Amino acid sequence: MTQQRVLLIVSGGIAAYKALELVRILRKRGVAVRAVLTESAQQFVTPLSLGVLTEDQVFTHLFDLKDEQEIGHIQLSRQADLVVVAPATANILAKMANGIADDLATTLLLATDKPVLAVPAMNVRMWHHKATQRNLERLHADGVHVMTPDDGAMACGEYGKGRLPEPEAIALEIERLLALPRGADPLAGQPDFASDAQRLSTSLETNGSLQGRHILITAGPTHEPIDPVRYIANRSSGKQGFAIAAAAARAGARVTLVAGPVHLPTPAGVDRVDVETARQMLAAVEAALPADAAIMVAAVADWRTADAADQKLKKDGSGQPAPLALVENPDILATLGRHAQRPALLVGFAAETQQIAAHARAKLAKKGADWIVANDVSGDVMGGDANAVQIVTAAGIESWPSLPKGEVADKLIEKVAHALSALVD
Ligand code: CTP
Repeated sequence: MTQQRVLLIVSGGIAAYKALELVRILRKRGVAVRAVLTESAQQFVTPLSLGVLTEDQVFTHLFDLKDEQEIGHIQLSRQADLVVVAPATANILAKMANGIADDLATTLLLATDKPVLAVPAMNVRMWHHKATQRNLERLHADGVHVMTPDDGAMACGEYGKGRLPEPEAIALEIERLLALPRGADPLAGQPDFASDAQRLSTSLETNGSLQGRHILITAGPTHEPIDPVRYIANRSSGKQGFAIAAAAARAGARVTLVAGPVHLPTPAGVDRVDVETARQMLAAVEAALPADAAIMVAAVADWRTADAADQKLKKDGSGQPAPLALVENPDILATLGRHAQRPALLVGFAAETQQIAAHARAKLAKKGADWIVANDVSGDVMGGDANAVQIVTAAGIESWPSLPKGEVADKLIEKVAHALSALVD
């Protein structure tokens, strides 16, 4: 089996030292790593230490003629199976989002035809800054895989989201992406991937009923920032959506799972895109089209703040809370319902506490969906392990007994597979 190859681009941030540990883990697992250091990254780690760990030459300059003769930058960017930017600073994300190529690292990122994983790390305020969030939306839409940074204390003394995920977690994500069949990646599909696709295809056992289909799933809540430390959220755990993604992969589908912030492992064989806000979720969903079926399980926040504050909102001593102006978020399900690339089968979920069937019927029409899976959330469904659902379609209502979420997922995927084969026949 050919050795898998990662091109690791280290950009300049205090977390750059963690790239050394990441290389050590990847090398231990048999992955070849070739490293590129940006100029500012060299303030934090040296080419020498990276070179020792990668057992390879470390590249730093675009116009190093000797290197250009031996290995052109186009070649360098294409010899890898996956390009990883870790840590990815706000600066390099901004350049990537805008196609700027002014050094070796960014030139490689523009020249590559391979999947790209960015692992951001930055100060919490830089992370929440509108410019960074805008750049992330664009990168999601471009098909770049972006890991969500960890929450925690920062080197600068502040606390919040922006810490580089642990090297072990990054290595797991790299292994997951390397295991994807190449056609599953929005940036892939190059002819020279044909043999790689076979080599990299997962050993997942499938029942084959969704073989050759692309199923798009949303799951979890969305977080809508109020200020750098607060956000609007809901109690969705993501468990039902993740169970459906796992069931679809077991049925042989290519699965794209667009996940809001949840603490759940990625199911085997599933291509996961992590997002935070409703607008990022919409961008990721549209980027994943076309799909044969879309199952929108996410509990998308209906509202976001009109203007997320750049600084933490403070009490002003008057005893009056700061006013919070809200605006409506885009409806992802309804957007797909009228989309030029509308999936052949569009399934929505409806969380209701009363008049379940009536409300679900109304949603079917309003959002242009084919089915609404209505669940009664008056109990402990959100976060719990069982779910009692009713499937509302134009043909009528099917009521299922209370079942573990895994069984609801299997039954639903079986129904989706049936419906899709009926559509084709
Ligand atoms: N949904 C979506 N985008 C939104 C809101 C909801 O894609 N901005 C999707 C959900 O993923 C789900 C379905 O729409 O599949 C129903 O969501 P729900 O919150 O129950 O419906 P709402 O339209 O928000 O109606 P209401 O809050 O009045 O119940």
